[in-house]
Amino acid sequence: MKIIRSMSCEDFQKLHVAVGWKILKDKEVDCSLKNSMFISCAVVDNEIVGMARVVGDFATHGLLCDVIVKPEYQKQGIGKQIINDITMQIQAFVNERDEFMLELLPTTGNIEFYKKCGFKHKPENMEGVYKWFKNQNIYSEDCKKHLMQLNSKPFNSIKKKTKNIEMRIYDEKRSQIKPNDIIIFINRENGERMWCKVIKLHIFNNFEQLYQNFNKVQLGYEENELSNPKDMEEYYTKEKQSKYGVVGIEIKLMN
Ligand SMILES: CC(C)(COP(=O)(O)OP(=O)(O)OC[C@H]1O[C@@H](n2cnc3c(N)ncnc32)[C@H](O)[C@@H]1OP(=O)(O)O)[C@@H](O)C(=O)NCCC(=O)NCCS
Repeated sequence: MKIIRSMSCEDFQKLHVAVGWKILKDKEVDCSLKNSMFISCAVVDNEIVGMARVVGDFATHGLLCDVIVKPEYQKQGIGKQIINDITMQIQAFVNERDEFMLELLPTTGNIEFYKKCGFKHKPENMEGVYKWFKNQNIYSEDCKKHLMQLNSKPFNSIKKKTKNIEMRIYDEKRSQIKPNDIIIFINRENGERMWCKVIKLHIFNNFEQLYQNFNKVQLGYEENELSNPKDMEEYYTKEKQSKYGVVGIEIKLMN
């Protein structure tokens, strides 16, 4: 294992997905990384498997955040080594100045980890409070984010705003999707991400019915291409279609 002090937006997103944290827009991640005071990452076999970073005022206060070790690498001392490296970076910084307060809001069940890394926990003196702010133009009260992988062709037709119906089987996972939710599509060929808002769900018994209700360009075909509901059998068998039904998720590209 080695420690490095920089990372890409893609590595950041991968680690967040690995521990089930929410996905941010790439441009926001780029900005966060650029404006971090300190970053530390653990690398195993050329892969970044853990991270932590500090945001702050470059003078007196900093917040430790995004402390993550990929689940399959946890409990091997990697998290502690990352925090040790962050500590070394802060100590070197403070030795040129006066003093620095590093704060954090640990998620449930992790206080012991931070105590083992040398943090003080004195709830009798100091308790943590926080407030989330969300873009009210994007998020409704109970809006959820969903991740979906796509091949390049459908990904690019959504990006061009020609395709606005994403077709899936209506299984347990997809029945969680509601209008106003956000779908983050990931291009499985190059990792590019795109945010879309769910406008409406169109539910049918099978793809034959679905295809009768939309024009082929909305579904992702080119004008000069033949559209055939059997194309969906490459992804979902007839049996699955009749077991769950299918859904056309009407979407609108955000940004
Ligand atoms: C919290 C997290 C970063 C710890 O990383 P890790 O690599 O598993 O931790 P380490 O193996 O370096 O553990 C260091 C020490 O803390 C202990 N420890 C780690 N997690 C602990 C926990 N949740 N509760 C109690 N002790 C814990 C370890 O047993 C070890 O003790 P030791 O030094 O006596 O052997 C990791 O579990 C994680 O990524 N969790 C998901 C994301 C998350 O919740 N991050 C924290 C947000 S505040």
